[in-house]
Amino acid sequence: MIIGVPKEIKAQEHRVGMVPAGVLSLVQQGHEVVIQQGAGDGAGYPDAEYQHAGARIVPGAREVYARAELICKVKEPLMEEVPLLRKGQILFCYLHLAPLPELTACLLEAGVNAVALETIQSDDGYLPCLVPMSEIAGRMSVQIAARLLEREAGGRGILLSGASGAEPATVTVIGGGCAGINAARVAHGMGARVTVLDIDSRKLSHIDEVYGGRISTVYSDPESIHKSVTGADAVIGAVLVPGSKAPQLVTEDMIAEMRPGSVVIDISVDQGGCVATCRPTTHEHPTYRVHDVIHYCVPNMPGAVPRTSTQALAHATLPWLQQLASLGFDRAAARSAELCRGVNLYLPEGQHRSVISCEPVARALGLECVGIPN
Ligand SMILES: NC(=O)c1ccc[n+]([C@@H]2O[C@H](COP(=O)([O-])OP(=O)(O)OC[C@H]3O[C@@H](n4cnc5c(N)ncnc54)[C@H](O)[C@@H]3O)[C@@H](O)[C@H]2O)c1
Repeated sequence: MIIGVPKEIKAQEHRVGMVPAGVLSLVQQGHEVVIQQGAGDGAGYPDAEYQHAGARIVPGAREVYARAELICKVKEPLMEEVPLLRKGQILFCYLHLAPLPELTACLLEAGVNAVALETIQSDDGYLPCLVPMSEIAGRMSVQIAARLLEREAGGRGILLSGASGAEPATVTVIGGGCAGINAARVAHGMGARVTVLDIDSRKLSHIDEVYGGRISTVYSDPESIHKSVTGADAVIGAVLVPGSKAPQLVTEDMIAEMRPGSVVIDISVDQGGCVATCRPTTHEHPTYRVHDVIHYCVPNMPGAVPRTSTQALAHATLPWLQQLASLGFDRAAARSAELCRGVNLYLPEGQHRSVISCEPVARALGLECVGIPN
């Protein structure tokens, strides 16, 4: 199969869909890899390394999309990339379609077979391609909150760890999954007073066990959220209902009750956000204030650490990429339930338009879901 890797064009997105080691392994399996010139520059992978691994370098995105049967990228295509997609082409990237009706409509019209990395899921609920980015976003969220709490950045002027004779900051993490537990771990390590809220009691008891009660765990309901949010110096939103729009758990009234200069980081902004006052921002202009509370809502946080996140991402996605390349879309989806859950859109045989095959995405957009035939 011919696999194409375009350069990401989303604002401040420096990750790339494949590292040279991935190229080598695909080429050794008999596939061809086409990479856009400079695609890996931002992550520290020059063209020469891809070439050495056996990739063909082409000057522009147009050539990549025109040649490849499978497009391997990081973020969802931007509107200007959609016309480059071809009917029946496989699109393999993060998509987060639930809050994106316009893009979904265009991709359906384009007739692509789209695998969303964030919904590839094993039987026990594990999300192998989301986990590495959630780990990174969770860890980053605390270093960002620490900086924003500094007076110079407009924050309350609080050091996360406190100091001798001065109290530490209070950090509330909503959602104790992968991003949440990593945020809690770093915040705890920096000396903050941390509370994690979740509706999954297994997650809470795991955290309680690992940290011997040094991180508080609380069942998530409107009352506990109200108490933990309004008293916090920093709130980190990290909830997920796979494929669906994030539930809005933090109301504007709660934000208004927070102390001026407090910080909200909504990691779940890529699924619409769990904070009512959340709207997507960019690495260029990452923050805004509502009721004097600093909001940071960047949907591609790991893009700021492209070397680390490209390495983590490329290794997590390679096995799925290999399956798709070796078996083709239909056989790979039929053979692997995990990969099949990742398919959000597919082009039925003989049709010109794709259909939605991921139930939570279809529900969020009020559209029909059509299961993939086995
Ligand atoms: N902004 C970014 O750059 C970035 C990067 C990576 C991941 N993410 C996003 O972060 C979010 C979290 O991802 P994850 O991998 O940690 O997911 P996860 O599935 O591991 O964890 C989500 C947690 O939310 C909990 N949850 C669901 N409903 C809840 C509720 N009402 N109250 C409290 N908790 C609730 C779940 O029980 C689960 O433990 C996702 O939306 C993901 O797409 C964003």
